[in-house]
Amino acid sequence: MKPEKMRFRTVFRVSSVKNRPPLSLSRAQTLSVSFSCMQSTNTRPSFGIAFDIDGVILRGRVPIGGSPLALRRLYDESGSLKIPFLFLTNGGGIPEPKRALELSELLGVNILPSQVVQGHSPFRNLLGRYENKLILAVGKGEPALVLTEYGFKKVLTLDEYASYFEGIDPVSEYKKWTTVPVVGRNDNFKNLVPTCDVFTERVKAAFVVSDPVDWGRDIQVLCDVLRSGGLPGTTNGHQPPLYFAADDLEYQAAFPVERLGMGAFRIALENVFNRVHHTPLQYIAFGKPKPIVFKNAESLLRQLHSSRHLNHVHHEDFASHSFRALYMVGDNPSVDIKGARQAGHPWISVLTRTGVFHGKENHEEFPADLVVDTVEEAVDYILTKECT
Ligand code: G3P
Ligand code: MG
Repeated sequence: MKPEKMRFRTVFRVSSVKNRPPLSLSRAQTLSVSFSCMQSTNTRPSFGIAFDIDGVILRGRVPIGGSPLALRRLYDESGSLKIPFLFLTNGGGIPEPKRALELSELLGVNILPSQVVQGHSPFRNLLGRYENKLILAVGKGEPALVLTEYGFKKVLTLDEYASYFEGIDPVSEYKKWTTVPVVGRNDNFKNLVPTCDVFTERVKAAFVVSDPVDWGRDIQVLCDVLRSGGLPGTTNGHQPPLYFAADDLEYQAAFPVERLGMGAFRIALENVFNRVHHTPLQYIAFGKPKPIVFKNAESLLRQLHSSRHLNHVHHEDFASHSFRALYMVGDNPSVDIKGARQAGHPWISVLTRTGVFHGKENHEEFPADLVVDTVEEAVDYILTKECT
């Protein structure tokens, strides 16, 4: 990125932000003199970066915005991590170690599992409550594997669960993509039978792990489970808890125009449920822009900062370290930028134009501290400010 091009396209936010002064050019200049990446061999950078994935790093499975080159700059010549960074995505559907491998292959750098925070990552904190209870995993990819890797012992995907209830999806026979339902299989069927009786045991909670695939069937079955108190066809009145990994209305995938996300599914489910049931749907949504996500990311970056993975000379107590700046590089103003703004110091928001946001200037409702074209420009800006 040529400096003159960056100057031309970069927008700094000049309006004031609650809890901290705006990052105007003069503040940026101050940063450039007060920060240093590696002032000496035993000093480590006092800043970190959180990258959104969809619309910043990837579109579908394709790297965008010069992301492989940008990330490469965060490692030294030997391939060791130089700058603490992680991915903070509301997406998911596969376990974090597997996603780390996938990202490493796509981006050509070595990503650690501890550098991948997905929308569903906080679900692991609910282990104490549901470890041995029957729970449902909803969404694309391998939602049940995600939960079993967190330690949950009695997990069924909604696909599997629905297949035990004959006729629960009255239009399934018209779905050309549907393979033979689990209960119709002769081969290996015994291995797929869960260690519980789905006809007597109530579902204790449903987890929407990733974007649902078959919205119609999923809304139908979730309504059945939730309005019956956990067992379709019965009544007991109490809705089992429902958890969403995120609440994004839209996100940027491979298609040029934004796609409906988990938040859109939640709205659809909630509207239908509230029409067929006397009590409004109760649910908890995780993911950005929730402040806890940014708190958690800060703590993980601190651990990374102090870990053996970062190229440095001595270790320090990670709890004692505090960053002077943490950058959130995102494409979605109402998710990434809103979240970073709410989180306050030390978070600084950087908005790219490679995803949901395409504006020339800053976003009106959720203005970022900095607007750039691509993640490559974002990293260029950060390294220039922090390391010179
Ligand atoms: O399904 C993924 C989407 O909701 C957002 O992903 O990486 O933009 O937070 P990301
Ligand atoms: Mg995004």
